[in-house]
Amino acid sequence: MKVTTLGQFIIERQADFPYAKGELSRLLRDISIAAKIVHREVNKAGLVDILGETGSTNIQGERVKKLDVFANEQFIAALKAGGEVCAIASEENDDIIPIDSEISKNAKYVVAMDPLDGSSNIDVNVSVGTIFSIYRRTSLSGPGNLEDFMQRGTEQVAAGYIIYGSSCMLMYTTGKGVNGFTLDPSIGEFCLSHPDMKTPMNGKVYSINEGNYLHFPDGVKKYIKYCQEEDKATERPYSSRYIGSGVADIHRNLITGGIYIYPTTTKSPKGKLRLLYECNPLAFIVEQAGGKATTGEKRIMEVPVTELHQRTPLFLGSQHMVDTAMAFMQQFSTTEKV
Ligand code: AHG
Ligand code: MN
Ligand code: MN
Repeated sequence: MKVTTLGQFIIERQADFPYAKGELSRLLRDISIAAKIVHREVNKAGLVDILGETGSTNIQGERVKKLDVFANEQFIAALKAGGEVCAIASEENDDIIPIDSEISKNAKYVVAMDPLDGSSNIDVNVSVGTIFSIYRRTSLSGPGNLEDFMQRGTEQVAAGYIIYGSSCMLMYTTGKGVNGFTLDPSIGEFCLSHPDMKTPMNGKVYSINEGNYLHFPDGVKKYIKYCQEEDKATERPYSSRYIGSGVADIHRNLITGGIYIYPTTTKSPKGKLRLLYECNPLAFIVEQAGGKATTGEKRIMEVPVTELHQRTPLFLGSQHMVDTAMAFMQQFSTTEKV
């Protein structure tokens, strides 16, 4: 059987981007290199002194785990060494990281990333991930600036995620469908395993942190009750599945069908997840696979980006399920327009 590696696949698809002259391909290669290094560390996390917390706190006010720091450093190093990006935004850095080096002086892209998604699962041998989003710079030259990141999700030229799970997978899109690659550890290569992935239009899984139930908007509370009701025609009740690593929950739902919701809560009135490096790239992937991603009200990828660490509620997954959840939101949680 013919095996197509990520490297080969990218070269074959380069013709899809006549303007890109290979830079985007090299950028994806740089990301895949960092992913392999992080995968290696995740796999031996129980063995080495990399577990636990560093004691510092990131911009979100959360305690930072060592593996978050490690992943952040690896991705930044790989992107800097590759020379294709003029700035990086990361969940772990308060400000953007402008890149001012000889090899990056013609760099056309900026990358926004969540280097380690699902940090609460690091210590417990549960899947974690990396999320990335690639934009063309809007500034003309020199190191990139904050404005380069203030672009809507619809402007992404590529996005994807890596899941460090029972196997390590890299999924990405450049706006022409979604392709998934599984790392073959024996040869150290990501191999095409899920070509042109499509997500089911409907599903039977809902993923939400129900511990926050009391703080959810009424529309979400009613939707959860709807998921739990008995109904033969729609095969309810649905199953509840929530890992707490967004990448893992969304990856599962992408394959089997389902909905992932992280709504606003009374504690987090703007939602918890970050628009730039969590929701937009995941939305791009899910839309390209035939699914849907909204704030509960409107399309995620059309939300104006005004802050680096901007938060948003997220309703993402199979089209029919997201439509139903949005209908509940509209009926029970419409914000009063003054
Ligand atoms: P991160 O580890 O990058 O901070 O992201 C965690 C996110 C998301 O991946 C996950 O689904 C969600 O936060 C879990 O949050 P709760 O623990 O509040 O459910
Ligand atoms: Mn995250
Ligand atoms: Mn993170």
